[in-house]
Amino acid sequence: MSAIRSVICGAGGYLPERILSNDELAKMVDTSDDWIVERSGIRERHIAADGEMTSDLALAAARRALANAGTEASEVDLVVLATATPDQTFPATATKVQAALGITRGAAFDIQAVCTGFVYALAIADNFITAGQFKCALVIGAETFSRILDWQDRGTCVLFGDGAGAVVIKAGPSTGALSDRGILTTHLYADGRHHDLLYVDGGPSSTGTTGHLRMNGREVFKHAVTNMSDAVNEALSATGLSAGDIDWIVPHQANKRIIDATAKKLGIPPEKVVQTVGLHGNTSAASIPLALSCAVGDGRIKKGNLVLMEGMGGGFTWGSALVRW
Ligand code: UT7
Repeated sequence: MSAIRSVICGAGGYLPERILSNDELAKMVDTSDDWIVERSGIRERHIAADGEMTSDLALAAARRALANAGTEASEVDLVVLATATPDQTFPATATKVQAALGITRGAAFDIQAVCTGFVYALAIADNFITAGQFKCALVIGAETFSRILDWQDRGTCVLFGDGAGAVVIKAGPSTGALSDRGILTTHLYADGRHHDLLYVDGGPSSTGTTGHLRMNGREVFKHAVTNMSDAVNEALSATGLSAGDIDWIVPHQANKRIIDATAKKLGIPPEKVVQTVGLHGNTSAASIPLALSCAVGDGRIKKGNLVLMEGMGGGFTWGSALVRW
């Protein structure tokens, strides 16, 4: 049976120049390099410069993804940007990126699923492309979490960073075989009962302020491993594939211990796990496409590889995407 499949043709990432080390953080709050590394695996993170906005990061990543895909911006007819830290309440940051790339057709919008944002955005773009409504999508995850951190709260400010990642997706032909390139399956979940475990204490319709990130880290940790491994198992059972078939797992980069525990639960060896959390921190919706761009850029992820992405974030939201690269 012939069908349309959403083929990921290229990936790109961007990190702001300024690097903030654990030792610098230890001068700001009561923490230490040892504590941060032992509990999270994070050694450093990047912080956007004054005046550098989420759209700037997104645009840089999008340009690199387009170059990696060998695609002109004029081919793009859909921009989906996942972010919890938009430049403004509205219009969508995606429309700023669209304009900066000179794209004047198709649709552009933001989606909000916090750290699961990129998986949600990928699933949305995949559904539009396989439905035949759009032909070439830029899917971006971009964040400036440094702007919503409480820099006095050592339980959160040491964990997050800024960055952006993007992929270019095009409609391609498929016989329906699992060996054909493209997104094979996506699985999205949410359970809003856990709203208060990870949230921002402000917003346009509640306080009229931007607010700061608040998290019960221990509780989030408990749910993360179970939710992400369940989402991966759903992707495998939907396709009839097994953990042994996976070439690369690209997880949301929140905490090395969560990444390791999830891979172990799934029976996936550490050498097949792409890890960037040590150098990027948790960049929320940007973390998966940033990790992807690193592994594509250094030649680890190659055409034909089976790549599994999984994420979990505030809401709670969580999900997975299985892709033949
Ligand atoms: O992106 C998706 C959402 N985010 C996540 O997935 C994050 C999930 N959670 C985590 O990654 C971990 O829970 C943390 C890294 C946040 C914390 O690790 P933990 O092993 O769960 O530590 P804990 O919360 O149980 O805290 C242990 C102790 C506490 O002291 P007491 O109460 O035992 O005396 C904290 O006050 O560590 C203390 N603590 C710190 N100490 C030094 C908390 N933050 C710090 C800090 N430096 N930065």
